Amino acid sequence: MTDPTVRPRGLEPRGRWTLRTARTSYTVEVPGHGGWAELSSWGPTGVEDGPSPLAGHGRTPFRTAADAAPAEYLPYGLRPFAGAELDVRRPGAERGSWWTFAGERSTAADLEAGELRLAFTDAVLGLDAVLCYRTVPGTDVIRRRVELTNTGDSALMLARLDSAAVNVPVPGGARLTYLVGQWAQEFQLKQIEIERGGFGIGSTQGVSGHDYAPWLAVQDAAEADGPVTPTWGVSLAWSGSWHLDAQVDAGELLRVRVGREPHEGEVLLPAGGSLTTPELLVAFSPEGLDGLARVWHEHERIEAGPRGLRPRPVLYNSWEATGFDVDRDSQLALARVAASIGAELFVVDDGWFAGRPDDTAGLGDWEPDPAAFPGGFGAFIEQVRGLGLDFGLWVEPEAVSPGSRLLAEHPDWVYAIDGRPATLIRGQLALDLGRDEVREYVQAMLDRLLREYPIGYLKWDMNRPPTERGRLGDPPPRAVDLDAAHVANYHRILSTLRERYPHVLVEGCAGGGGRADAAAVARTDVVWPSDNTGPQDRLAIQYGFLHAHAPHVMSSWVTDAAGFFDTRPRSLRFRFVTAMAGALGIGADIRSWTAEQRAQAAEWIAEYKGLRGTLHQGEVHLIGSPQDDTCGVQYSAPDGSHELVLAWNSGALAGLPLVPGRPDRLRLRGLDPAAQYRDEATGTRYSGAHLLHAGLPCPWSAEYDADAVVLRRC
Ligand code: GLA
Repeated sequence: MTDPTVRPRGLEPRGRWTLRTARTSYTVEVPGHGGWAELSSWGPTGVEDGPSPLAGHGRTPFRTAADAAPAEYLPYGLRPFAGAELDVRRPGAERGSWWTFAGERSTAADLEAGELRLAFTDAVLGLDAVLCYRTVPGTDVIRRRVELTNTGDSALMLARLDSAAVNVPVPGGARLTYLVGQWAQEFQLKQIEIERGGFGIGSTQGVSGHDYAPWLAVQDAAEADGPVTPTWGVSLAWSGSWHLDAQVDAGELLRVRVGREPHEGEVLLPAGGSLTTPELLVAFSPEGLDGLARVWHEHERIEAGPRGLRPRPVLYNSWEATGFDVDRDSQLALARVAASIGAELFVVDDGWFAGRPDDTAGLGDWEPDPAAFPGGFGAFIEQVRGLGLDFGLWVEPEAVSPGSRLLAEHPDWVYAIDGRPATLIRGQLALDLGRDEVREYVQAMLDRLLREYPIGYLKWDMNRPPTERGRLGDPPPRAVDLDAAHVANYHRILSTLRERYPHVLVEGCAGGGGRADAAAVARTDVVWPSDNTGPQDRLAIQYGFLHAHAPHVMSSWVTDAAGFFDTRPRSLRFRFVTAMAGALGIGADIRSWTAEQRAQAAEWIAEYKGLRGTLHQGEVHLIGSPQDDTCGVQYSAPDGSHELVLAWNSGALAGLPLVPGRPDRLRLRGLDPAAQYRDEATGTRYSGAHLLHAGLPCPWSAEYDADAVVLRRC
């Protein structure tokens, strides 16, 4: 990986390394003084052949060279003023580290696996830090992390332990694109421009959270609206608390620092101990936000391996239809209709277990309610399966209700602080999953359910963040880092489920999209982006979601109109086209659907099944936005045989073409201008040039407010 061919003028670097991804390169070098590694170039392959676009930074009065450098990772001490990624001290000694380069530590096997390791050592403090980079073949993503080892003979305290810093030159100022929200309004795409100063987002909720996704896209504001827009992105693979700080300095350099947010304020690293930060995924696309989305999608598809290729079943979920009133007869009535319209999987949501009349009780014991399932839960599942449906179940393993047997037997298993009141959220308490006995209990509970019943799908929910986050009988200072321990055990159980029950698909959920980070997505098969299924709101949520995550992981249901949140009317057609943008499900009370609605649903489901391969494996272009009158998502079939365009009348429903006499148009992308395309439904033929420049006509009316158009290349 060492690349001796291009040397910057001036100081001879100690080393220079170029990481190569599918279409990009990322070059770092360690300057002669050996204090840090810095970014030399990052962009399309070949960008490394020439003087570094990041060079020229230097020390100015009141600023050290380390403060100005596009450094990859620096401790406080060496970087005293401009924000460091690592803040470390040994109790009784001054805060900070002044490390030096200790060489490349990549073994032949590391290099073979696409991994570069650069080591830094502080012999005075007793700290070893290895900056690790791993390319993911077939993608333009590099996964970065840092391994820290305490080589001294007493504990080190880490007040900040980021995963990486990312530098982007922004002579025109920075345009940052981020995903913001709250419960039921997750993944709203927003932008902010910063000429100088900072921007910060994060979560202290022990999950990645509804408020901000641990994700950011960066562009130079002066070129952000151009047709070809260099775009850099980061995504933190961490399912707990986190922070992201972005700062534009006087050198017109944007520095993004991302890492986990330890609950205790400081993490204790014992003598001889090592820890590895979560991975920060970094990506580049020359094709704007849309191109960056394709890089993230490709990465999620490749990382998912063969599991990613498994067709996501069309599910029915009874939550919106029956709420907590779950019993055999209501569920079977729903299952019969679901099977008749073509659903493949029936998921019983919250309310199936004993002592759960509402959300104030019942969590923790996980016994099917004998009164609700008089013939037994197993017999009920067999009846569902007898309809030709696979069976799925909702669980919330990290929660416990007051009054449960679990809490009575193990009062110390919840987060709690001696002498402090326990805050209830949604009437429940949070289990301290970081305790091994709690992990074992949760694993055993899931094993019992999965072995006793033929369950093919598990929806893992989490509906409250921990508040009084301490351990009874184990006050600080303690060796355990609560947030890290909880997340590690959450990930460990998910991995064990995959090993033991490879056929079981897992849906990740946390009161909607509260835990939809890259690490959770990598360990589940789909995630539930939001509890809001109202058609127009959902469109905006999915539009944001698809900038960061791939369609095959996006669970989406057709529900009844008007919805709980967004009561604006939209047709059944609109709701189907919206839900089929990801992994299609139905959440409506289909018992009350008319024969005509059921027939329509059956048609859409059949169409979706035929298109599922393109929807989940195709390349995506996000066209327009839900703020426009018309928007769409274009999926290009992997074999190039067709384009699938999902299009929505996302603006006012006039019942007329938006401009009288002239249909709205969606300009498609990525087509061969010389090729011919035939609309499978209407037979209309278009040239690629027409679709690219004039656009696909969308003659909206009150009844025709969305469509799934297949354009076959002929
Ligand atoms: C959360 C989930 C919903 C549903 C309910 C059940 O809010 O996001 O989809 O499962 O819990 O209580």
